[in-house]
Amino acid sequence: MAVVPNNSNLPRHVAIIMDGNGRWAQRRHLPRQAGHVAGVNAVREVVRQACDIGLENLTLFAFSSENWKRPAREVGALMGLFRLYFRNDLDEIVQRGARVRIIGNRGRVEEDIRQMIEDAERRTLANTGMNLTFAFDYGGQEEIAAAARELARAAADGRLDPETITPELLSSRLFTSGLPEPDLVIRTSGERRLSNFLLWQSAYAELMFVDTLWPDFGREEFLDALDKFSRRERRFGALPESVA
Ligand code: FPP
Repeated sequence: MAVVPNNSNLPRHVAIIMDGNGRWAQRRHLPRQAGHVAGVNAVREVVRQACDIGLENLTLFAFSSENWKRPAREVGALMGLFRLYFRNDLDEIVQRGARVRIIGNRGRVEEDIRQMIEDAERRTLANTGMNLTFAFDYGGQEEIAAAARELARAAADGRLDPETITPELLSSRLFTSGLPEPDLVIRTSGERRLSNFLLWQSAYAELMFVDTLWPDFGREEFLDALDKFSRRERRFGALPESVA
């Protein structure tokens, strides 16, 4: 059984691509939506556990900007679940002292969801516990393009010297501004892709692909991933300590 790594070996920021809800449902001859419902239960458990072990930052990929291409019924179900999740779980999140942030394009979601997002962020703004970020209508390339557009606009207006554009400056224009970069990106369900998730931010992240389908990803799997992470050697482009 995996044990909680001590705090010095805990990643500061874990980001998760929660994949496999549809296949989980299919295997049970259930509609895909049932897989998403089970996926929300897994979200609840992982959030609780991350708070319990004192993780500083948890980011969950809840809806990608490409997910709009799914059948309207499934998109509607996912939106409904997002609504339900915040309705049911926000009080607990507030109590646990977590600070909610939603990253993504707010212009395309329905008005009540936009308001719900703003409300969740407002209610948790002063919290000092875990940063709990949901990527919702999120796409990494779109995010980088928007940041580049903003800098280009400033340069065109004469407010910014293009020579002063650094990775740090561009980072500060991303949705994730202020959050540390993820140390660990986990993707469930056996797929080995980033699917446009935190492309810039994951430059040096450890990537972990696990076969478990998201609704089955529980406390044991999460601990196991943290345990494996704590034993990986991270070099950030330098030499291993034994050679340097
Ligand atoms: C992938 O499963 C999962 C998603 C499309 C998004 C994840 C959504 C949830 C966990 C539920 C809603 C989340 C919140 C925070 C309320 P898939 O449908 O791509 O699975 P498949 O690859 O097996 O078809």
